[in-house]
Amino acid sequence: MKPKSTFFCQNCGASAPKWVGKCPACGLWNTYVEEVIVKENKTPEWNAVGEGSKLKSQKSKPKTFSEIDSISEKRLPTLDGELDRVLGGGIVTGSLVLLGGEPGIGKSTLLLQMAVKSAYKTLYLSGEESETQIKMRAERIGIKNEECYILSITNIQAIFQVLRELQPNIVIIDSIQTLYTNTIDSAPGSISQIRECAAEFLRFAKESNTPVFLIGHITKDGVIAGPKVLEHMVDTVLQFEGDRHHTYRILRAIKNRFGSSSEIGIYEMLQTGLREVPNPSEILITQRQQPLSGISISAAMEGMRPLLVETQALVSSAVYGTPQRNSNGFDLRRLNMLLAVLEKRCGFFLGTQDVFVNIAGGLKLEDPAIDLGIAVAILSSFHNQVINPSLTFAGEIGLSGEIRAVAKIEQRISESEKLGFKSIVISKFNQKGLSKSKIEVIAVSKIEECLDFIWI
Ligand code: TYD
Ligand code: MG
Repeated sequence: MKPKSTFFCQNCGASAPKWVGKCPACGLWNTYVEEVIVKENKTPEWNAVGEGSKLKSQKSKPKTFSEIDSISEKRLPTLDGELDRVLGGGIVTGSLVLLGGEPGIGKSTLLLQMAVKSAYKTLYLSGEESETQIKMRAERIGIKNEECYILSITNIQAIFQVLRELQPNIVIIDSIQTLYTNTIDSAPGSISQIRECAAEFLRFAKESNTPVFLIGHITKDGVIAGPKVLEHMVDTVLQFEGDRHHTYRILRAIKNRFGSSSEIGIYEMLQTGLREVPNPSEILITQRQQPLSGISISAAMEGMRPLLVETQALVSSAVYGTPQRNSNGFDLRRLNMLLAVLEKRCGFFLGTQDVFVNIAGGLKLEDPAIDLGIAVAILSSFHNQVINPSLTFAGEIGLSGEIRAVAKIEQRISESEKLGFKSIVISKFNQKGLSKSKIEVIAVSKIEECLDFIWI
């Protein structure tokens, strides 16, 4: 048989029969690589040596809703509260979950921890580390599960052999980029290998009703390299994020067929594995002896959860001609916009000042409600005056300097209340229909109004 080959974009997975310089799908240059595809057999690998493919016996008669049995999906709780919540209440049997994240962020740790702490018969397959390396890591975390099996393996056919013999309740693959199937000739990690291996696991998961976790490394620009082609195939896409130099990690559901896709879980990376952080606000706010200027507390939302974070700013006279603007965890373009608004609409002359903004704890926030907290932190540093530490802020700033309403205001207020703050500053437009709260709610419509009461 003549080998059939196709060119695949290694960034987005688009394919073409010929080499192309610029990918028409994602626009990147020089990403096309030839991959030889030799398909030998069409039978699903995992039951190639079974009692015959179940696919053949699939009924093809369409049904009405009343004819379809309604069983609620079965879920396996993992003893990891954060993971359970992100998955939508435990692992759904027969689901295929993709866990993406940059190398070194803690993907292997997260799933190994689930494997050694839960009570299910779990098979952890690794193509990246040896069994002794995994054992060392598992011992740091603490092994509780007697039925946790480890295997260092990369060949799909060999894996399905093991799966048929062991019949585990949960399968973890670390990582999809290291696997290869004999039916395809290209190298492990190439688009066609990734796609084919994942397709085999999808069939395995659905037909055996065993949940499968696939770990996938992502490239720097945030797309799951290669595995982007998997996103539509799997039931759930989870992303593990954070700054490697900080200890906090966020587990985010990007897609979830069995739950909300805006859930997040927060962990802290310790020497003994990942610790769940059920109340993140408490640790994100440093308890200071001495109040400092340039610091405010913003009531942000991360996914569905309210989160109080410390928004910090430093304003100092620029030494060079062009002032520097830098931001950590907050969009730089948004910072530039806020500075322009403060200068043009509110009359603060920041044009000759360097401005640095930071969200404490290494978090990255996209919630526009932290605008107000950032703006007052900048003004606080500019005037070198300390903001009253019993205040929190939640409001978006518009181009004319107005403070706009933000979503989920009640949750932000109650989080501030829970953590013992005395007042929260919100937009006037958020005031309507608010139920009574224990803390004082201060409604403002312009940034300047804040300057009358926020100082110590
Ligand atoms: P790892 O799970 O190997 O990352 P990934 O699979 O995403 O590439 O975790 C990498 C880091 O986590 C590594 O630098 C060591 C650190 N770590 C801890 O701090 N504590 C622990 O208990 C473990 C197991 C790892
Ligand atoms: Mg790993």
